[in-house]
Amino acid sequence: MYYWSFFGLQCFVNMLRSIAWLACAANAVAQFNIIHTQYETSPPVYPSPNITGVGGWIEALEKAKAFLSQLSLEEKAGIVTGTPGPCVGNIAPIPRLNFSGLCLQDGPLAIRQAVYASVFPAQLSVAASWDRSLALQRAALMGTEFREKGSHIALAPVVGPLGRSAFGGRNWEGFSPDAYLSGELVAETVIGIQSAGVQATTKHFIANEQETQRNPSTRPNRTTIEALSSNIDDKTMHETYLWPFANAIHAGSASIMCSYNRINGSYGCQNSKILNGLLKDELGFQGYAMSDWMAVHAGTAAIEAGLDMNMPGGIAFTSASPSYFGGNITIAVNNGSLPTRRVDDMVLRIMTPYYFLKQDINFPPVDGYTPKIGFFPAPNYVKNFTLGPTVDVRKKETTRLIRELGAAGTVLLKNTNATLPLKRPMNIGVFGNDAADLTVGQYSLSLTGGDGNYDIGTLAAGGGSGTGRFSSIVAPLDAIKSRAQSYGALVQYITSNVAITSGALSTLAPLPLDACILFLKSWASEGSDRVSVLPEWNSTTVVQRVTSVCANTIVVLHGASANALPWSSNPNVTAILAAHMPGQETGSSITDILWGDVNPSGRLPYTVTTAEDEWTRNIVNSTELLGTKDPNAWQADFTEGNEIDYKDFDARNASVKYEFGFGLSYTTFSLLNITTQIVVANASRTPNPAAPILPGGNVDLWATLARVSATVSNTGNLTGATVAQLYLSFPAEAGAPVRSLRGFEKVHLAPGEAKTVVFELKRRDVSYWETGAQTWRVPVGEIGVGVGFSSRDLRLKSTLRV
Ligand SMILES: *[C@@H]1O[C@H](CO)[C@@H](O)[C@H](O)[C@H]1NC(C)=O
Ligand SMILES: *[C@@H]1O[C@H](CO)[C@@H](O)[C@H](O)[C@H]1NC(C)=O
Ligand SMILES: *[C@@H]1O[C@H](CO)[C@@H](O)[C@H](O)[C@H]1NC(C)=O
Ligand SMILES: *[C@@H]1O[C@H](CO)[C@@H](O)[C@H](O)[C@H]1NC(C)=O
Ligand SMILES: *[C@@H]1O[C@H](CO)[C@@H](O)[C@H](O)[C@H]1NC(C)=O
Ligand SMILES: *[C@@H]1O[C@H](CO)[C@@H](O)[C@H](O)[C@H]1NC(C)=O
Ligand SMILES: *[C@@H]1O[C@H](CO)[C@@H](O)[C@H](O)[C@H]1NC(C)=O
Ligand SMILES: *[C@@H]1O[C@H](CO)[C@@H](O)[C@H](O)[C@H]1NC(C)=O
Ligand SMILES: *[C@@H]1O[C@H](CO)[C@@H](O)[C@H](O)[C@H]1NC(C)=O
Ligand SMILES: *[C@@H]1O[C@H](CO)[C@@H](O)[C@H](O)[C@H]1NC(C)=O
Ligand SMILES: *[C@@H]1O[C@H](CO)[C@@H](O)[C@H](O)[C@H]1NC(C)=O
Ligand SMILES: *[C@@H]1O[C@H](CO)[C@@H](O)[C@H](O)[C@H]1NC(C)=O
Repeated sequence: MYYWSFFGLQCFVNMLRSIAWLACAANAVAQFNIIHTQYETSPPVYPSPNITGVGGWIEALEKAKAFLSQLSLEEKAGIVTGTPGPCVGNIAPIPRLNFSGLCLQDGPLAIRQAVYASVFPAQLSVAASWDRSLALQRAALMGTEFREKGSHIALAPVVGPLGRSAFGGRNWEGFSPDAYLSGELVAETVIGIQSAGVQATTKHFIANEQETQRNPSTRPNRTTIEALSSNIDDKTMHETYLWPFANAIHAGSASIMCSYNRINGSYGCQNSKILNGLLKDELGFQGYAMSDWMAVHAGTAAIEAGLDMNMPGGIAFTSASPSYFGGNITIAVNNGSLPTRRVDDMVLRIMTPYYFLKQDINFPPVDGYTPKIGFFPAPNYVKNFTLGPTVDVRKKETTRLIRELGAAGTVLLKNTNATLPLKRPMNIGVFGNDAADLTVGQYSLSLTGGDGNYDIGTLAAGGGSGTGRFSSIVAPLDAIKSRAQSYGALVQYITSNVAITSGALSTLAPLPLDACILFLKSWASEGSDRVSVLPEWNSTTVVQRVTSVCANTIVVLHGASANALPWSSNPNVTAILAAHMPGQETGSSITDILWGDVNPSGRLPYTVTTAEDEWTRNIVNSTELLGTKDPNAWQADFTEGNEIDYKDFDARNASVKYEFGFGLSYTTFSLLNITTQIVVANASRTPNPAAPILPGGNVDLWATLARVSATVSNTGNLTGATVAQLYLSFPAEAGAPVRSLRGFEKVHLAPGEAKTVVFELKRRDVSYWETGAQTWRVPVGEIGVGVGFSSRDLRLKSTLRV
């Protein structure tokens, strides 16, 4: 069907002729030569490294080996190949060995398809909280729900896309375009999910930075147009895109999901340089590389390149279908074209985390309701699995955490004359199509229909496989009504943007309104990129109409980031809140902020501009490309290197409306007393090449070389929290951006209180990637140190010589 399956046959023939399988597999990755001369075709890296159990998995590996020793070849093939079943991905049970199979479920903010389960704030909201502790708590509570619903493997968290383009459709599933911030928060998330006994799957590996042409397409005459190739130089790969994956692996991520796109011309799930080379060799990854759904385009070639698990298994989406793995693995091993030891390693890599997390002991059965609403209902396969009852896994503490994090991930961008918190306004207007309860259903799965991007209904989670089914949701309008009516205030509201722009504001009485709260939204979903970073549904006109009748307009934005806000300087817009995707308690979270029960402490994990054209678009797309006849036409050259989001604006010395790291509070803070300290005197420039490679890479990279401290004080009259941020400016040798985030700490302070924050700088934090020597190197000379409250508000400066 595909060109590469034909190639697989060639490869197979070569092997029968005793041509080295190495060369054969190398050919497999070289088949789509890219036309862009500044990038090399991904080099072959073989053979695939074995699991060794380093980093604490030795005992679990022994159990996995005992299990492996009892498997037939067909059963081994079954462990590495998905099958239809009750979950979004399934590994078949082996009743003979008391193995009840594996249940894999989406996704990053909920068990996507579950009922009687919670919808948490999106990772975008976690990033905006800049709060490691909340990230950890969220992940632990989410992991608990996965476990109680019988899901062994959570298809979460996301650090790819990182957010190269503000227009990327899936950025909200991840944290932030800043690699350091994403790295810190993905580590907490992996630890949290796995603390509940559930395997984390950090995805999508790697450079899955746009949705447009992320998969191959077929022309009417059946010619295949290959997926987009993300062409990245080695330095940018290490310093930006690979960086947070290293944190996830360091934190023990059981699995890594490879991506749909190509990297330097070779598909993510059969690119030996990224899977064998970067992931398993350099980062010492001990778990398994799982494919994204239908991202496998070869059998033996993908396996030799380092792919360990094929999901959902078949090559068609809807039911049991032929697989490049499964029976093909059996054939390949039997005819000698695939070594048994490689299949054994795949099984060990899959089963070791299972034993490490004690999933062999009393793991709950798959929730009984799941197969009735699943992706692949396939009832004849579901019967192979033991199903449990339908359980309600929601808890009071989870609801509380969701509400708290929804507020913590809300960023106050503007607050003229302290209009917020509200002071018991008696005549309140609520406007905008994002204010009201959902109107066309509680679930936005469609990848093509934009089914969540309808007019009236609040936006608390994006669409696609990263969405969640809302078992309940508190709409902003409902929460505001109950809040305002508790003290007798009047609430007038218009939730149709069409009505607002076509005259309905004339129905308001009495005027003037004391406070107008205008809810805008920006939809984003897996499957397509954002056409615009302006809030949607005629937002600019809606703001203009509401502000024309209301001099105290508080704009609340829900949904995707980043944004361009052309009306941000309008004097009648007195406050702006970037409220992101807060999950099911969205209304409660925003009223907590509006009425001041919670002092806003979120900070932008991206940049906000006034106009859309201030962005470097970084999306490859055009009418010509969509109609191309060239199978290799889709190429994305990451020529900007590390300079994305704030690093791009800094490099261009461009002004922005609200910079990365920015956010206001209802109180004020100061910073003083910066100190720097060298922890390791005369540190070597590079990590000791003989130091062990543990999960996360050479252990030396994780050693603290220096510390920076500063004292934060609450100088206002209210209790609140701020985020102290550390940025480094490297000497020219490093070829680094103007400044890079390398530390942050959320600090909670009572009025008058002060705390000293300490930023630990690890070797990797003060190094750059030296391509020639293939190592991290600490630059010689002074590193500029800035500590402040945003990337452009560096109140304390110092230098450091490591
Ligand atoms: C992609 O090509 C660039 C430029 O030649 C090279 O530096 C980099 O290592 C390659 N990366 C991969 C994953 O092949
Ligand atoms: C993996 O282990 C097998 C023995 O199980 C050995 O034959 C093979 O050489 C090892 N492969 C690598 C890459 O170390
Ligand atoms: C092997 O894979 C091919 C797709 O390349 C498929 O058509 C075939 O049915 C598979 N064979 C088995 C035995 O699974
Ligand atoms: C099978 O698993 C169950 C539940 O974990 C356990 O009680 C039982 O002892 C196991 N049986 C065998 C043969 O391992
Ligand atoms: C599961 O069910 C299918 C269809 O009923 C069957 O073909 C298959 O052999 C069963 N067992 C496994 C381990 O998949
Ligand atoms: C804010 O306060 C200043 C000083 O009291 C006043 O001049 C200005 O009109 C106020 N602005 C708004 C939008 O209320
Ligand atoms: C936006 O509002 C203007 C002014 O009322 C109207 O002409 C236009 O049709 C609206 N556009 C959309 C997409 O609703
Ligand atoms: C601001 O609001 C006042 C009072 O409703 C109104 O008179 C004025 O025109 C508004 N200004 C803008 C720029 O809309
Ligand atoms: C991609 O290009 C097509 C054709 O020009 C256009 O219709 C589509 O909106 C574009 N997609 C994005 C995300 O810009
Ligand atoms: C399909 O169309 C492309 C582009 O027009 C052409 O290069 C190719 O040869 C065609 N393939 C077949 C099988 O006709
Ligand atoms: C300044 O920081 C140092 C090191 O953290 C600390 O010992 C000292 O007490 C601080 N001084 C003030 C005035 O906060
Ligand atoms: C704090 O409150 C006092 C007394 O109410 C007031 O005088 C002072 O201006 C307030 N300070 C700030 C920073 O708001």
